[in-house]
Amino acid sequence: THNYRITLLPGDGIGPEIMTVAVEVLKAVGQQCNLQFDFQEALIGGAAIDATGSPLPEETLLKCRNSEAVLLAAIGGYKWDNLPRPQRPETGLLGLRAGLELFANLRPAKILPQLIDASSLKREVVEGVDIMVVRELTGGVYFGQPKGIFTTETGEKRGVNTMAYTESEIDRIGRVAFETAQKRQGRLCSVDKANVLEVSQLWRDRISALASEYPDIELSHLYVDNAAMQLVRAPKQFDTIVTGNLFGDILSDAAAMLTGSIGMLPSASLGASGPGVFEPVHGSAPDIAGQDKANPLAQVLSAAMMLRYGLNQPEAADKIEQAVLQVLDSGYRTGDIMSEGMKPVGCQAMGEALLQAL
Ligand code: NAD
Ligand code: IPM
Ligand code: MN
Repeated sequence: THNYRITLLPGDGIGPEIMTVAVEVLKAVGQQCNLQFDFQEALIGGAAIDATGSPLPEETLLKCRNSEAVLLAAIGGYKWDNLPRPQRPETGLLGLRAGLELFANLRPAKILPQLIDASSLKREVVEGVDIMVVRELTGGVYFGQPKGIFTTETGEKRGVNTMAYTESEIDRIGRVAFETAQKRQGRLCSVDKANVLEVSQLWRDRISALASEYPDIELSHLYVDNAAMQLVRAPKQFDTIVTGNLFGDILSDAAAMLTGSIGMLPSASLGASGPGVFEPVHGSAPDIAGQDKANPLAQVLSAAMMLRYGLNQPEAADKIEQAVLQVLDSGYRTGDIMSEGMKPVGCQAMGEALLQAL
């Protein structure tokens, strides 16, 4: 048996509900595959602010560093929205990504045949969609200096953020993207705003230069406004997308809706070494928190990504993904993916159906 130390960060809103389901699923799969999980919970986001005053207590970062992988649910909520920025839940999540140097965020958006009718787009448009968004996660306008709200000479306030990338930051995410495309259909689309932004010009130059090392990859470039349009117009043209932090945040939510619901999309945040963080693309959904309405499948699929990318246990990951397909085949649907003739279930019941399937 393999023994893995896993840090669980349930966070806020629907976080604890969906985390419970994912942990039960991991335990069940662990039994079948001879994997033992030593789960340790830690605080992040609003829950951590309430308990300690900080959205990312030092103890949490230490626990994460000392584990093989981190499974995160979601952070944030109305209650903490008016706190100063250093004390906001989002700052905790960004601190975790920066602290573990998780520069590569893989966000797969694949339409499942069972959910075609849950997509807001036409069947012909989404059938067969299989996209991997490779989002740079520790740079760009999220982290660039200077940043802040300053006062000008005339006494007016001025909000400042800086979109910046160094060559080495672009190269390392570029390599992850080219290598990801090699394992997929061999097509990479780099998304930027090089017609306006210098930082994007450098991005495009470096990505283009890297292409010579990957002659097997067909590289294209799109401006981000056009990419957003193409994603909803003809998403099947995309295989792998590589882009910066902010553009990747926005485009991955758009890509999520191709698949029917943001409640379906997992992600993996990886660094050069050390533990990765595995988390859904969605947030804490405060509007439905505590009502047993959340779709736990993005969280469960994030646990599968943890097994595949973090622990190198592809068979266990396959089992979880199969179970997800099976519950959907059986017609179980949470509200966000409901369509005619299907069986409505809450978060817990979806979890029980998954355990049955396993
Ligand atoms: P959100 O993703 O939380 O919710 C957007 C909409 O999608 C809501 O209507 C919500 O009910 C729905 N939704 C999301 N996940 C769902 C699920 N699993 N099942 C069913 N429906 C689901 O985005 P938001 O409302 O813009 O943000 C809410 C809070 O979450 C904010 O504080 C934000 O900063 C935070 N957030 C956190 C993360 C994260 O932890 N990684 C990601 C995005 C947003
Ligand atoms: C995400 C979220 C985060 C981001 C926020 C909550 C900091 O939207 O993971 O997509 O912008 O990266
Ligand atoms: Mn986001």
